[in-house]
Amino acid sequence: MSDATALVTGGTSGLGLATAERLRAAGMRVVILGRSRERGEEAVARLGAETVFVPGDVAVEKDVERAVREAALRGTLRAVVNCAGRAHAARVVSRSGPHSLKEFAEVIEANLLGTFNVVRLAADAMAATEPVAGERGVIVNTASIAAFEGQTGQAAYAASKAGVAGMTLPLARDLGPLLIRVVTVAPGLFDTPAADVLPAARKAALGELVPQPRRWGRAEEFAELVHHILRNPMINGETIRLDGGLRLPSR
Ligand SMILES: NC(=O)c1ccc[n+]([C@@H]2O[C@H](COP(=O)([O-])OP(=O)(O)OC[C@H]3O[C@@H](n4cnc5c(N)ncnc54)[C@H](O)[C@@H]3O)[C@@H](O)[C@H]2O)c1
Repeated sequence: MSDATALVTGGTSGLGLATAERLRAAGMRVVILGRSRERGEEAVARLGAETVFVPGDVAVEKDVERAVREAALRGTLRAVVNCAGRAHAARVVSRSGPHSLKEFAEVIEANLLGTFNVVRLAADAMAATEPVAGERGVIVNTASIAAFEGQTGQAAYAASKAGVAGMTLPLARDLGPLLIRVVTVAPGLFDTPAADVLPAARKAALGELVPQPRRWGRAEEFAELVHHILRNPMINGETIRLDGGLRLPSR
C-alpha cells in the first residue's frame, strides 16, 4: 500500500525505534509519538524523509489526537504500534512503608491507559478509511512476559501489562466488524536503553536464564515480528510471547 502510514508510540528509542525503522524499510510512512523532542529529532534524522515526530504523552487525549491527525494527513493510517511504556520496581511493603499509590497509578496511566487511549483514537480514525484486501488496519500493543509471571517488586508493572494482554481479545472483538485487527506482543528480555539501568553483571545473569537463544533479544527481532503481524491477516486477538522460552523466576 503506497500511502500506508504507521503510528509508532515510544518510537524514539528501543523497540519502538527499531519498529519505526523496520516499517520505513518496508515503505510505510511513519509518525512517531514520543516525549523527548531531542530524541524525536534524532529519530527523524536517522529514519529520513517520510518520518514525522509528534511530541506528546500517550495518556493525554489531545497529544494522541494530534499524532493520529498527523498520520492521517500523511497518507492512510493502516498500522499502530504501541511501544511507549515505562518500567517500575517497588515492593508492596518495604522499609519506607507501603507502595506509593501515586506511583502505582502513574505506571497504570502510562502503560495501560496510554495504550488504550491510542487504540481508541487510532481505531476511530482507521474506521473512516477505505478497506484494502478486506482490512482497514492493524493495532499492535506491547505487554511483557511480566503480565504472566511478574517478579518481586513488579506489582504495578505486571498489573499494567496484564491489562494490555487482557484487553487484547475484547478489543479485537470490538474492532473486528470494522476490519481492524488487534494483537499484543509480550517481550521477554530485550536489550534496549530501558535495560541499561541494570548493572552489567545482573544483565548478563538475566541473559543466561533464557533457554535458547541464551541472550537478550535484539530490538530488530521484535520489529520483525511486528512486521509479520501486520502482514498476516490470521493473527488477531492474541498475545504472542517473544521470549526465547524464558519464564521469569520470582526475583
Ligand atoms: N526491553 C525489554 O526487555 C522489554 C520487555 C518487556 C516489555 N517491554 C516493553 O516494551 C516497550 C518498549 O520498551 P523499550 O525497552 O523499548 O524501552 P525504552 O525506554 O527504550 O522505550 C520506551 C519509550 O516509551 C516512551 N514513553 C514512556 N512513557 C511514555 C508516555 N507516557 N508517552 C509517550 N511516550 C512514552 C519513552 O520515552 C521511551 O522512548 C515498553 O512498553 C516496555 O514496557 C520491554
